[in-house]
Parts: sequence; C-alpha cells; structure tokens
Amino acid sequence: MTTENPTLHTPLSGLRQLLTMAKSMAINLLLAIPWMRRLVLPTHVTGMDGNEEQARELLRFFEGMADIRDAVILELGPGKTLETLQFARERGARYVIAADIVAYHSEEAAQQRGVDYRLFDGATLPVADASVDMVWACYCMQHFRDPQAMLQEIHRVLRPGGTLICRVDLRDHYHMFHRGKQYDCLRHSARVWRWIAWNRSSYVNRLRLSEWQRLLGEAGFRTSKLVPHEDVQLLKDNRSHNYLSHLDDRDLKTYRFDGSFRRTLCILLGALLNGLLIVDHG
Ligand SMILES: C[S@@+](CC[C@H](N)C(=O)[O-])C[C@H]1O[C@@H](n2cnc3c(N)ncnc32)[C@H](O)[C@@H]1O
Repeated sequence: MTTENPTLHTPLSGLRQLLTMAKSMAINLLLAIPWMRRLVLPTHVTGMDGNEEQARELLRFFEGMADIRDAVILELGPGKTLETLQFARERGARYVIAADIVAYHSEEAAQQRGVDYRLFDGATLPVADASVDMVWACYCMQHFRDPQAMLQEIHRVLRPGGTLICRVDLRDHYHMFHRGKQYDCLRHSARVWRWIAWNRSSYVNRLRLSEWQRLLGEAGFRTSKLVPHEDVQLLKDNRSHNYLSHLDDRDLKTYRFDGSFRRTLCILLGALLNGLLIVDHG
C-alpha cells in the first residue's frame, strides 16, 4: 500500500532534510535496544493517558454509534487508557477485550478493571473468528503498519453484522499542530519515510480518507456513518505543496475522520455496497 505522490522524484531536498533523517535514524536505532525501549515507555504520550473525563466523552461517542448493552467489545490500541472499556462494562457491555502491540498495562492490572488485556504482534489479532459485536479504535488505525491485513483481521473477528467504530487522525504526528506541515510525512518517498519512522510509535501509514474508504470496502465493510473533519485553511496550505498535487480537495482538507463501518456477509458485497451506497453524514 503506498500513498506516495507518483510525481515525487526528489525526496531529499537539502541539508535540513538530511539532518532530520539522520536524527530520526539515530533514535530509531536507539529504540531497537530492548532496555532503552523499556526505559522510554513510561514517557510515551498515548492520547487520553487515563483521563477519565475524556474516556467518558469517548464512550459517549461509541455509544452514539451503536448500542453497547450486552455487547462483546474489542478495543484496539487503548494505549494507557483502559477506562473507556471499564466504563463500558459498567454501562452494560457483556465482555470487553483490549488488544495492543505495546504493553502499557499488565494483564492483572487490566483484569482488576474488568478488562481482558491481550498483547499481540500487530499482525494476527488474538481473538477468535466472528466472536465480537464491535471493534473500537480511537486514533489507532493510522498507526497500522499493514492496514490491509489489519482490516481483514477486524473483519475476521467481528460477527456478521458487527461494527467497526473508529476515529482516525490523518496528520503527520511529528507536525500535528504545525501550520503548513500537517501532511509533511507525504513529502517523503516510502523508503525515506521508513528510515524516519520504522521503529517509532509516531509512525503513521499516511493513508488519506479516500484510501481508507477504498480499503474498508475491499475488506468487506459498508459505511454506516462517516464524519470527515475538514479545515479550509489546511486546504489552502496543502494546495501550495507540490508533493500533495496528486490529492483531490477532499483529501487535502480532511485531517481526521470518525466513522462506523458494518461488516458485511461477504467481502465482495462490502466492496460493492461501499462503492455504490456510501451513506455520508458529514
Ligand atoms: C495514539 S495511541 C491511542 C491510544 C488511545 N486509543 C487514546 O486515544 O488515548 C495509539 C495506540 O495504538 C496502538 N497500536 C498501534 N498499532 C496497533 C495495531 N496494529 N493494533 C493495535 N494497537 C495498535 C499503540 O500501541 C497505541 O497504544
């Protein structure tokens, strides 16, 4: 899967970019040392970081998309926040599972909150086929290293008719709030981007909204609700970058989307329905 601008032939433009790359590579290599990784883990900011008020707000968002009563819920990438699932249990969810690729919690500590915590390799979900009613993913999917494979995995573990509910942030995580640089990651070729981010939790797969929609359809999901978050100033900023010239206006201005996507009975049907019947409540 590539998001590269096909017209981009000069990924390394100048000394500044070379220095950025050298610094990133050094950090990547340092983080490859297991004890170094363990050392920096507590300093990771994963998002809500256990903030109860934000967890309740997120739960309201999930509940607004689907009834959680008596549901089996799998949350992908909860980071440091197990509260959302804990509160979901208190509000009537039958069973809650958290799956992450980084051990921010121990299984025992999670158990005390009523959460079944499962660590995995980011490739095969440690969950049985057709066993969950909904999959939640808050600011996690942009970090998928292999989005196609993960969407297939989500499809596999959802029961037919089950729902994927997500929030996805499409910005460069090194320049999230830096006006004019929010899509900076797309400036690089795939190879340079790998050098910069291969071993970092700030790695993003760089997919745009249109690419997510296509991949979701191909993986057998039908869009139930899609809320793109757009910024007109971002559109203006992005139009001036030639490395973004391959993107249409919608992809240029959408920096985040929230959505719920229903698992269809068969993958082909999902692709067809997603292409023909996108229900867009933007
Ligand atoms: C930005 S944090 C979001 C944390 C939390 N959902 C929040 O909003 O506060 C991204 C999380 O996704 C996890 N992650 C990355 N790739 C993943 C994958 N393939 N499957 C599950 N979790 C993943 C990371 O380890 C991290 O915990």
